[in-house]
Amino acid sequence: MPNPGTTTLTLHPDFRRGALDRRLFGSFVEHLGRAVYTGVYEPGHATSDEHGFRGDVVDLTRELGATIVRYPGGNFVSNYRWEDGVGPREQRTPFLDLAWRTVEPNDVGTDEFLQYCERTGIEPMMAVNLGTRGVEAAAALVEYCNGEAGTRWADLRIANGRTEPYGVRLWCLGNEMDGPWQIGHKDADAYGRLAAEAGKAMRLVDPTIELVACGSSSMQMDTFGEWERVVLGHTFDVVDHISMHAYYEETDGDRASFLASGTAMDRFVERVVATADAVSAQRRSDKRFTISFDEWNVWYLQSRFVGEKNLPIQRDAPRIIEDVYSALDAVVVGDLLVTLLNHADRIGVACLAQLVNVIAPIITEPGGPAWKQPTFHPFARTAATARGEVLDLRVDTATTTTAAHGDVPLVTAAATIDPATGHLALFVTNRSPEPQTLVLRTPGARLTLVDALEVTADDVPAVAGPEHAASVAEKHVRTFELGGDDGVDGGEGVGGEPAATRTVTLAPESWTAFTGTLARA
Ligand code: AHR
Repeated sequence: MPNPGTTTLTLHPDFRRGALDRRLFGSFVEHLGRAVYTGVYEPGHATSDEHGFRGDVVDLTRELGATIVRYPGGNFVSNYRWEDGVGPREQRTPFLDLAWRTVEPNDVGTDEFLQYCERTGIEPMMAVNLGTRGVEAAAALVEYCNGEAGTRWADLRIANGRTEPYGVRLWCLGNEMDGPWQIGHKDADAYGRLAAEAGKAMRLVDPTIELVACGSSSMQMDTFGEWERVVLGHTFDVVDHISMHAYYEETDGDRASFLASGTAMDRFVERVVATADAVSAQRRSDKRFTISFDEWNVWYLQSRFVGEKNLPIQRDAPRIIEDVYSALDAVVVGDLLVTLLNHADRIGVACLAQLVNVIAPIITEPGGPAWKQPTFHPFARTAATARGEVLDLRVDTATTTTAAHGDVPLVTAAATIDPATGHLALFVTNRSPEPQTLVLRTPGARLTLVDALEVTADDVPAVAGPEHAASVAEKHVRTFELGGDDGVDGGEGVGGEPAATRTVTLAPESWTAFTGTLARA
């Protein structure tokens, strides 16, 4: 039984789980609230480019390190006619989006978004409407985006001013189709059949695309498990990924359960992987579906959101679900990233939902500044330092019992190594309200720690505004140097090899990202 105050972490550069797909650091922009209008797009803003996209948001998006952006929804996509958002602006007409009961002006559509991605150096991940529409509209959109000249939809793109195909690789077959709130919600059979036929047609237009089938909207859905089994059965030969969505929040002041959200995410991933592998096994197939965790975050959904049905009909980019985050939320986001990294062998894509204003790491004020929420910091640091391959760590830590998730580890960790340079990125969460001694054992290897970024949780309510965000960052996010090479102390290694150890102290309720090098001794 490990000592509750000490965690021992053993790592070796040769023990690896698999390559890290950088699409794990994706994000999401939906036509929802102020994500698009006065979020990424605000013509006339002091920093906007000639296309109307805010330069301050582009700069922060680059600093965040987002690699892909999912678009245009979300629930929005399930009642969206993409044709309404292309062509001359003066001919585009507003429509009433029923998902968020908001008037969508159609000023930004497919071309504006894809060109914004190109300018920002981000890969787009597009979703097609399988709520109110189907095979024909989905295939037409792929042709509009990726088709060569000489056919109807590709020629429309060219007529709209874009000659070169965009080459969009990643496509979601609808969004959360298991959810009764979804416009055009379906049961697993109906959705699975439609997704298979839409995917087949989309691939006939462009065989190089990757397709994501909708999994469950959360592990709490009554249909969870059976939904994945039925949908993957129908779409087996067509799709590459199955989606997962999960949002976490602190409820009834149960801080310990909230801090252990990463374990809930961990179990969710394991259950989806098990279900997907069972579908393959039953067919005696070696096919391994990967996961597109295309919505994840902290979201005070139950405690702060009125529900989409209760929203009044609004226009002009209303402020919807603009959660303000605390340093505690940032620690949980860091820990959720630890879970994602540890499943990098099966998670091919992940998207922090969302990018700007709507449950987002970046907030803007119309005509004013853009700033970072506390959750920005763990994401940016992980995206900047994790690279290469994910290590298979051994973490010996005590457990604690939580009301929501039962027994959970007190300390979690993930690490990556760049085999070419030995660059090590190590991420550790201490969920305990007490400090932890972390013993790093590297039998047969030499560890050098260079620096660390530490996020510590707070107790104060989060307050909207750039000043509050800056003060949280000042008090709860700190970087520090960790001097040099710790050498090899011998004696403890595997098979008589030398062992290096290093001891560091983890702050209570903290997430720490270390960088350094790890190489065979
Ligand atoms: O990200 C906000 C919403 O959460 C998305 O539109 C939907 O897919 C999910 O329920």
